[in-house]
Amino acid sequence: MTGDSKSDSIYARSRELADDAAPLSGPLSGVKICVIGAGFVGCVTAAGFAKFGHEVVCVEKDPEKLAMLRKGRLPFFERDLEELIRSNVKSERLTFASDLDQSLEGQKAVFIAVGTPPDKSGRADLGAINEIVTRLARELEPGQVIVIRSTVPIGTARKLKDILKQNGRENGEIAVISNPEFLREGTAVYDFFHPHRVVIGGDSAEAIETVRHIYRMGAVTPAPTIVTTNETAEMIKYASNAFLATKIGFINEVAMLCDSVGIDVLEVARAMGLDTRIGPEFLNPGPGWGGSCLPKDLQEFLGLGQSRSIPLVILNAVRQANENQHEFVVSKVKSLTENIDEKRIGILGLSFKAETSDLRDSPAVAIARILVNEGFVVKAFDPAAAEDAKRILKDVDIVNSSYDALGNTDCALILTEWSEFQLLDWKKAGEIMRHKNIVDARNLLTPEQMRRYGFNYQSIGQA
Ligand code: UDX
Repeated sequence: MTGDSKSDSIYARSRELADDAAPLSGPLSGVKICVIGAGFVGCVTAAGFAKFGHEVVCVEKDPEKLAMLRKGRLPFFERDLEELIRSNVKSERLTFASDLDQSLEGQKAVFIAVGTPPDKSGRADLGAINEIVTRLARELEPGQVIVIRSTVPIGTARKLKDILKQNGRENGEIAVISNPEFLREGTAVYDFFHPHRVVIGGDSAEAIETVRHIYRMGAVTPAPTIVTTNETAEMIKYASNAFLATKIGFINEVAMLCDSVGIDVLEVARAMGLDTRIGPEFLNPGPGWGGSCLPKDLQEFLGLGQSRSIPLVILNAVRQANENQHEFVVSKVKSLTENIDEKRIGILGLSFKAETSDLRDSPAVAIARILVNEGFVVKAFDPAAAEDAKRILKDVDIVNSSYDALGNTDCALILTEWSEFQLLDWKKAGEIMRHKNIVDARNLLTPEQMRRYGFNYQSIGQA
């Protein structure tokens, strides 16, 4: 561990404390927690901590969102979350508030879970976090702990400690802990209660112990806890997401090769995944990775490399390969429809992955735009993202069902792995299409069965 002997001793002691076999000091009792930001991460974190038995207030400044949440309703789609919120609001362990200053009294820890969207240069915009910490500098009592839950660039915690100092708080009077989340959209509630690890970064043994206690309260089987520095915790988050993007990009390129030599990539991926050094997860080929995290986090990582003049050759290639994947899917649509004049495409799935309504950096949106720009007439359906899609895909006819999207089209194109596309009556779908072509960019269907229905069937890496 870098740093002076004091910091080493903190981690040594915390490492002992973090030994999951070690019983927590004192009885397990709930504490008061404030979570700032009622977005996807903030809501899951607040409701999850309430379920653990803590008393949580979640602060949200948007009045419309706040009104919905107080009624136990979610302003976005996330499986199991609405029920988790409703049950904890009912048990009065979870409340929602608009006024930050009024929500800090007696709080053991204040978790910041606000957005850090990319700015024009692609780097993370920390405006919201900086403004909140400046306010907390004025309001918090000594000993209260600030916990950064948002994904923030390496070195941010140090800058936030400077803000506290600039606002008159003594060194270390208010600890700043880094606690990155590893929640996936669509499975965030499950991921919260079944973490692969809990990462806690900081330089105050007491504050680290506070955060460990918060997590240990409700964990039936405590997850491994990594206690480290703020910067290392921040780096773990970016490195993890950059690796996941790399792994997906890798299997997508293997899929292209399999396609060209007539091998089934899913068989290759299954065999690869049995090697515990590789693992089966994130080896599903598709139209490319998207969402509100992987693209933004990879961009921030690349920006860090650039700012340090470190050539991140692999990671730059990972970003380029992801764009190539969109073109690879489009080339399959073109090859199936090359002899058709006015080409009409029926897209199934627009969200960046199933079980979410999130269109941010969705490969489906990127591919729909390429097809429109290349003169295709495009209809599309998505079970959860249709309304939002109407706002951002003006040249695409967003319809209300899979069959509406496929009617009178020359090629079906599956871009999101919603299970309802698997359960569709594809025999009937073929009968209402003008030509029975399909590009299954999520390898959702069975090639033999689709060919029995008379489809020219193409997928990603199954030839
Ligand atoms: C990701 C990380 O998984 C999570 O740990 C982090 O906290 C936030 O970012 P998320 O973006 O919600 O989570 O979804 P994820 O399941 O990682 O999918 C990201 C993209 O990769 C999606 O477009 C998905 O369709 C794609 N993907 C994922 C694949 O194409 N193949 C795979 O095998 C897995």
